[in-house]
Amino acid sequence: MKNDNVDVVVLGGGIAGLYYAHCLSSHHEKLDILILSKDELAVCNTRYAQGGVAVTFDPVFSEIESHVQDTLNAGRGLCDERVVRFVVEEGKEQIQNLMNLGTSFDRNIDGELDMVKEGGHSSNRIVHAKDRTGLEIQNSLMRALKTTNNVRFRSSCLALDLLMDEDACLGVQVLNKDGDNTIISASTTVIATGGIGQLYEVTTNPSVATGDGIAMASRAGAKIQDMAFVQFHPTALYEVGRTPSFLISEAVRGHGAQLRNEDGEAFMFQYDPRGSLATRDIVSKAIFLEMQRSAFPYVWLDVRHFDLVEFAELFPTISEKCQSLGLNLSKEMIPVVPAAHYLCGGIVTDNKGRTSIPNLLCLGEAGRTGMHGANRLASNSLLEALVFAARAARLPYERKPISSVQQESDHRNEGVISATFDIAEIKSIMSNNAGIERTLDGLQFAQMKLSKLKQPQMPSDRNEVEFINMIEVARLVVEDALHNLD
Ligand code: SIN
Repeated sequence: MKNDNVDVVVLGGGIAGLYYAHCLSSHHEKLDILILSKDELAVCNTRYAQGGVAVTFDPVFSEIESHVQDTLNAGRGLCDERVVRFVVEEGKEQIQNLMNLGTSFDRNIDGELDMVKEGGHSSNRIVHAKDRTGLEIQNSLMRALKTTNNVRFRSSCLALDLLMDEDACLGVQVLNKDGDNTIISASTTVIATGGIGQLYEVTTNPSVATGDGIAMASRAGAKIQDMAFVQFHPTALYEVGRTPSFLISEAVRGHGAQLRNEDGEAFMFQYDPRGSLATRDIVSKAIFLEMQRSAFPYVWLDVRHFDLVEFAELFPTISEKCQSLGLNLSKEMIPVVPAAHYLCGGIVTDNKGRTSIPNLLCLGEAGRTGMHGANRLASNSLLEALVFAARAARLPYERKPISSVQQESDHRNEGVISATFDIAEIKSIMSNNAGIERTLDGLQFAQMKLSKLKQPQMPSDRNEVEFINMIEVARLVVEDALHNLD
């Protein structure tokens, strides 16, 4: 077992972890900050975020108020209004900061930021970089971090568990790619590990989204809340056998695309006066019901009325993907299905990202800040991650004496192929019983099936660690869903 001491260890290399490290290192040049990722650093949800960042630049009261109200309405009365307000108010400063770092958001012919609309928004307020917004932000943050000399990265480094004394977090135990265990002692540990999309068969989330941070925090006794609120994105491309599913950004509907059923009807108006631009929970449920009614495996997204040259300009990734499948978008519609996309609940934090465990922060999708309530408003997730990362980085830093931490177990990967713990089983249980539609019988069945899954005693590779973590977070989702059943 090796030992490593740092000031701050950040688990996860998405927007929340990177932006926190950037802000912290600019306030404290001397801190030793280590960012860990369990895969290649670039593999995270942020890089798949097509849409953008919802932000209100106009200081006019009505603009701020409208963004706040849209967020509260989407959240079905369960947002913390105080949190929503400061996130909306502070978003502008963080977007400006990103632009100062070189993030390039699209501009209109007058040189002003091109603000677009997505579901549930009552005005155009989403900044974007074509349909690659997350990637653009991630790249600019990486460029900025490479110029600092107090932030280090370690990839293919699997966090196993938080190191705890009586009640505080002392760091994390990890499994390195060489199979060695390391105890990383840190004054501050930050969970920025993202969500749980991989619990489901159809998801837009990459393979890393297995809820590791939430599972570790839960085992350590952190307060976790609202795990039932798994958001399904209405329009993932229907492609048999492809995982993760390719996202067709909500911005495409914001631009005027219509959802149609197998008979060609724009069915969304039967469910909501906003049609295809209702909030995600409503659109996903409506698609699900249409698919059930028709026994058709998908619905259509119609962009045939678009100028396809303009479409390719605005949405190059989507346009290339459709072309690669031989879809002629002037004549054919895009087959889409709902897919697990974002977790609105998670590790409870205060308004600066502090969890219920001393020395442990949580930022980004793994956290439950009160911003999203039961259903996140489109493009509010990058906004929340930025605002909370900036706030957490302003917390007074206190260097704690490093106590020698000993962990009893040494999870050593000896290169032996272990029995396969099949995550497909977890996905099947969750997809069939804890997806868009939930019933008491289904959830109780899921609870029983999850409790019977045999778990590895001493996990020693990524598959085994993820298997255990996925059962833990699946159990939290199902328990919370049982409490929330209407
Ligand atoms: C999208 O582009 O539709 C995804 C953006 C988001 O999840 O808010």
